[in-house]
Amino acid sequence: MTNINRAASPVYRQALELIARVEPRVAAATAQELADQRASLKLIASENYASLPVLLAMGTWLSDKYAEGVVGHRFYAGCRNIDTVEAVAAEHAQALFGAHHAYVQPHSGIDANLVAYWAILSQRLESPALARLGAKTVNDLTEADWERLRHEFNQQRVMGMALDAGGHLTHGFRHNISGKMFQQHSYGVNPATGLVDYDALAAAARDFKPLIIVAGYSAYPRRLDFARLRQIADDNHATLFVDMAHFAGLVAGKVMVGDEDPVPHAHIVASTTHKSLRGPRGGFVLATPEYAAAVDKGCPMVLGGPLGHVMAAKAVGFAEARQPDFQVYARAVAANAQTLAEGLSRRGVALVTGGTDNHLVLLDVTASFGLTGRQAESALLEAGVVTNRNSIPHDPNGAWYTSGVRLGTPALTSRGFGASEFEEVADLIVTVLSQTSPGSSPARCQTVTGVADQVRSRAADLLERHPLYPGLDLGAEFDQS
Ligand SMILES: Cc1ncc(COP(=O)(O)O)c(C=O)c1O
Repeated sequence: MTNINRAASPVYRQALELIARVEPRVAAATAQELADQRASLKLIASENYASLPVLLAMGTWLSDKYAEGVVGHRFYAGCRNIDTVEAVAAEHAQALFGAHHAYVQPHSGIDANLVAYWAILSQRLESPALARLGAKTVNDLTEADWERLRHEFNQQRVMGMALDAGGHLTHGFRHNISGKMFQQHSYGVNPATGLVDYDALAAAARDFKPLIIVAGYSAYPRRLDFARLRQIADDNHATLFVDMAHFAGLVAGKVMVGDEDPVPHAHIVASTTHKSLRGPRGGFVLATPEYAAAVDKGCPMVLGGPLGHVMAAKAVGFAEARQPDFQVYARAVAANAQTLAEGLSRRGVALVTGGTDNHLVLLDVTASFGLTGRQAESALLEAGVVTNRNSIPHDPNGAWYTSGVRLGTPALTSRGFGASEFEEVADLIVTVLSQTSPGSSPARCQTVTGVADQVRSRAADLLERHPLYPGLDLGAEFDQS
């Protein structure tokens, strides 16, 4: 990659110069962001660093084209090049995940989930209603039939993982459209182990009878058994929808295989491309033959015109993830998470579920250090360690202050961090948190004087040994380091 980064240096220098001629503040902020990212120990579990070919693919005139519809069937003329990039991205996604069908237009993870929900509603409610009423499309329905169908859309039930167990707002919670569309019932985790209790989930599904069971998480540090989840869905005539936004990179990299790979088991899988998968910011949906046509109606049903430039970058990102190197990377992400978890445990930190077998680690900072998640997050940030606070199951401090801090290994693994570096990262975290005391409010805290500076300089040593985009040089004008 260093050679590619070096070759990209003049390209970026010139691009920034051109941008600066129009709006220097944007050029400066773009350059500053590189400097900031280079200088921070990024442990945010949902972030990563895309390669420069992925980033470069986004900066083009493919953005200038409208292309509503799907490959070969657009509402606009002149889409042959968008057709090419969309088809190439879908071809790579299908091959990478062994999926029957890939839809690569969603602009983000939330959009991908919305496409999945409406594809399920369309396939499970709208298509049978049209067949029953002898109508070809919704336009053929009478006002009364249409009103009945609209009402039916609104009467459906979804089951998703509880937020404090690691679920995501898009899995039926009130702040997201999914919670406004569906009646939701959460499944949690066993309070003793922190693990998903599949028997309890099966019993709840029998009682609640959801149309959709959503599986997937933002902050659950373990793998899921998708074969079991599919069985529960089948037993209840529910559709299994897996949101693999967080762990798509571990599926692509063949760390999660067999029952832990959602693709052979779910009816629909949605994902982001920018987290552990290390592509551009965006989303996609994989579908079985039953749901493929409904998924393809995402635009204009819930999505605006496809972003041709981002689909191009997705194609590049998926192509990279098909290289053998990506499997090495994915294995390192999981191994590094274990090293980090073991390093923290050995230093007395309580971890939710006792450890990890994916890319993330969830610390109970209240039990371990008497801090709220908010206090721990800001003490770590002060010392140059970027994390985010997160609820833990049955969180006594609520969803805002929280009792947890979530850590993830995808980004630093992309920089080349291995076991020894993550051992040092565990030590840096404990050094800060063990010398931080709670302040006068759940947001305030004090760290012993000098500790933050000392940790910052130890972190800087690690970061210098593993530079971000090594070889990329923005030149004197834009070098903000
Ligand atoms: C499980 C899960 N689904 C969906 C999303 C939404 O992704 P995006 O921010 O790209 O809309 C996230 C992002 O945090 C997530 O963790």
